[in-house]
Amino acid sequence: MLVSPSLLSADFGNLAPDLEMINSSQADYLHLDVMDGVFVPNISFGFPVMKAVAARCVKPLDVHLMIVQPDKWISQVRDLGAEIMNVHQEACPQLHSVVQRIHQAGMKAGVTINPATPVNTLVDIIEDVELVLVMSVNPGFGGQKFIPNALKKVRELRQLVDTTASKAIIEVDGGVNGATGRQLAEAGADMLVAGSYVFGSADPAQTILELKALSD
Ligand code: DX5
Ligand code: ZN
Repeated sequence: MLVSPSLLSADFGNLAPDLEMINSSQADYLHLDVMDGVFVPNISFGFPVMKAVAARCVKPLDVHLMIVQPDKWISQVRDLGAEIMNVHQEACPQLHSVVQRIHQAGMKAGVTINPATPVNTLVDIIEDVELVLVMSVNPGFGGQKFIPNALKKVRELRQLVDTTASKAIIEVDGGVNGATGRQLAEAGADMLVAGSYVFGSADPAQTILELKALSD
């Protein structure tokens, strides 16, 4: 299992030790949650903070933009050195064009779907993206309860990816812990985001290892 710990649950008053933990852990990515107070009812952090974080982080960045008009920020996300740029399907009326522009900027394109957005809305983009991010909570806050319907969506998505030319990785975000992580692995997820479960645990590096060990 690929694991992408979310910085949203780190100590914003003292990020350096949490970044050192991530750097020396087995985490595959660092997940950065950008919120604008419009697309979601919360504001997190922006580019000045992410630049400082990127400079201290040795893991590839998995940037999750919970903002309207995410395409306005493609070059800024690229300048962070991000490997993956995730945009919400619901925020992109011209999703195909946005995906092309993310690729032109040299990044992997991820398309994210909210809990009420069906998997079948991705049928005509699935072969063009490197990743699909399934939200298993309504985006905006860490520490929420996992929505079980996400398991059905991951199964549907697994089937869609496996029956097309798509090579998309299936990532899941929200309410991930040991128990929901195991169910998601069985459903066909490739990559898990975890915020409160990792940073709220007594031994975050060990918790990352525990999630990494999950397989179907
Ligand atoms: C929620 C964010 C998540 C958040 C997950 O809107 O997209 O990445 O950090 O937090 P947990 O793992 O605590 O549910
Ligand atoms: Zn996220």
